[in-house]
Amino acid sequence: MEQLPHPSCNICGFFFFPFAEKGIDLKDRSVIELGAGTGLLGIVVTLLEHCIPHAVLWDMAVGVSHVLLSPSGAHVTITDRAAALEFLESNVQANLPPELRPRAVVKELTWGKDLDNFTPGAFDFILGADIVYLEETFAELLQTLEHLCSERTVILLSCRIRYERDLKFLKMLRERFSVSEVHYDSSKDVHIYKAQRGSRRDDF
Ligand SMILES: C[S@@+](CC[C@H](N)C(=O)[O-])C[C@H]1O[C@@H](n2cnc3c(N)ncnc32)[C@H](O)[C@@H]1O
Repeated sequence: MEQLPHPSCNICGFFFFPFAEKGIDLKDRSVIELGAGTGLLGIVVTLLEHCIPHAVLWDMAVGVSHVLLSPSGAHVTITDRAAALEFLESNVQANLPPELRPRAVVKELTWGKDLDNFTPGAFDFILGADIVYLEETFAELLQTLEHLCSERTVILLSCRIRYERDLKFLKMLRERFSVSEVHYDSSKDVHIYKAQRGSRRDDF
């Protein structure tokens, strides 16, 4: 393990609650992470084969190296802006065992830009941890979600609602997707929202 911060420094770890609660099988699912930062979330999702109980998943987020690995998890595209890619790529390389590295691709994705580099609707899950914070990016972030999302796609966004503008993003999201809150941690004040196209409200 190198370079990654402890997950208490960010809100990635909360993602594993909805996955675990629903018992989602990530085997061969296609997942994209937006605004990955250090890549912690995308790395852990690459390491997961099946979702297992909360305590184990939390341990995984705390100490990814302790997990028993299986080379049959998700295919994960881990993205961020160009400026973040070098650090992100080195984190991914340093924290995935060689047999799982082909399952994780690090790619530039600046919201709203060059979206043709990504096949429309190609992903089962779109994940974003703490990416709703810059109002000037809201329209581009929504455009990106719409491009990547198909009828079957589940979007999961973990957010800490810090400012009025963050609620504005949720309003914009609700205008385009069916949105529900799937987890709230009151001690950390972190919400996880699920969004899907149209009126779909599938249980993942
Ligand atoms: C608060 S950090 C969260 C990082 C990581 N997801 C985590 O939870 O630790 C926000 C991330 O969004 C990325 N970001 C901000 N604006 C962006 C944009 N317009 N396009 C793509 N990524 C962007 C930043 O580079 C940064 O990595």
